[in-house]
Amino acid sequence: MVKLYSTINNAQTGDYPEFDNKLINWVSAIRAREAGGAIPPGEFVALKHLLHEQRLYKSAAELRLMREAAEITCQAHVRAMISCRPGMLESELEAELVYEFMRNGARTPAYPCIVGGGENACTLHYVENSAALRKNDLVLIDAGCEYQHYAADVTRTFPVNGVFNKTQQALYEVVLEANKQGIERCTRGVGFREPHEVALRIMVEGLVELKLLEGEVDEIIAEESYRPFCPHTSSHWLGSDVHDVGDYRVDGVWRELEPGMVLTMEPGIYIPNNEAMAHLAPRWRGIGIRIEDDVLITSHKPEVLSDAAPKEIPDVQRVMADGVIG
Ligand code: GLY
Ligand code: MN
Repeated sequence: MVKLYSTINNAQTGDYPEFDNKLINWVSAIRAREAGGAIPPGEFVALKHLLHEQRLYKSAAELRLMREAAEITCQAHVRAMISCRPGMLESELEAELVYEFMRNGARTPAYPCIVGGGENACTLHYVENSAALRKNDLVLIDAGCEYQHYAADVTRTFPVNGVFNKTQQALYEVVLEANKQGIERCTRGVGFREPHEVALRIMVEGLVELKLLEGEVDEIIAEESYRPFCPHTSSHWLGSDVHDVGDYRVDGVWRELEPGMVLTMEPGIYIPNNEAMAHLAPRWRGIGIRIEDDVLITSHKPEVLSDAAPKEIPDVQRVMADGVIG
């Protein structure tokens, strides 16, 4: 029996009806010539799942490209930190990012750059990038280039004026610890969800300690009452796509991490200036912080592909104070 293996852009039957129609017409045309010896396919096989499994495990050649994508992306984040001045438009920082991508051979961002000053950082996929940056705000940049068909996905949050104030620092340190502990947990044999759970617990503990959330940590986690502050999970697969393909669960259980897989670790805390946060002191409101790295699972320690973008407070402040654009 002739089998027709079909996939187009990761799609499967039903995703592109126009293409499906074409395919059926081609098969019908072959069938019409069966009497003349043509052999039409008798079975259609969707390749999507097989291909997705292959994409989940990166080869050495793919990893070379992903390291390069991450390296270029980190340089772009450094450039943005160095270029940042109060009064600039968010889009001007976006231009710096894209310039650095392109001058290094990465033709496009892997996804629309997110550059959110102050409260704009609390809008998860903010891409307007049209506001002026205010000197006492933080700015969140979530941007990654696509290099030779491989994506990077990196987020850094830093003060527009180059120096964290006490409030910003307190919240940033919580997210940073969550990011670092989450990355530590990215080891072979660990369930996909565990690094996120580690990061989430640290953020909830931090929010309780800062008196931004009230109650027992276990209860807050069980009831998900952290959600106004921490609305998203911390990881997704990364590869040819920024949210790459691959099953997250196998037979209903979170998949075990294995060498060759690449995922993000991107915990975040957001305190928008809205009704839900109206009970908090004004100094806390209008802050969104996310710190995102790209992590390769290895047989030993996790490899952080995006290590070259500073995230420790002294390092960020030093780069912003001393940095010279190369
Ligand atoms: N960097 C965009 C996202 O992960 O959704
Ligand atoms: Mn991401």
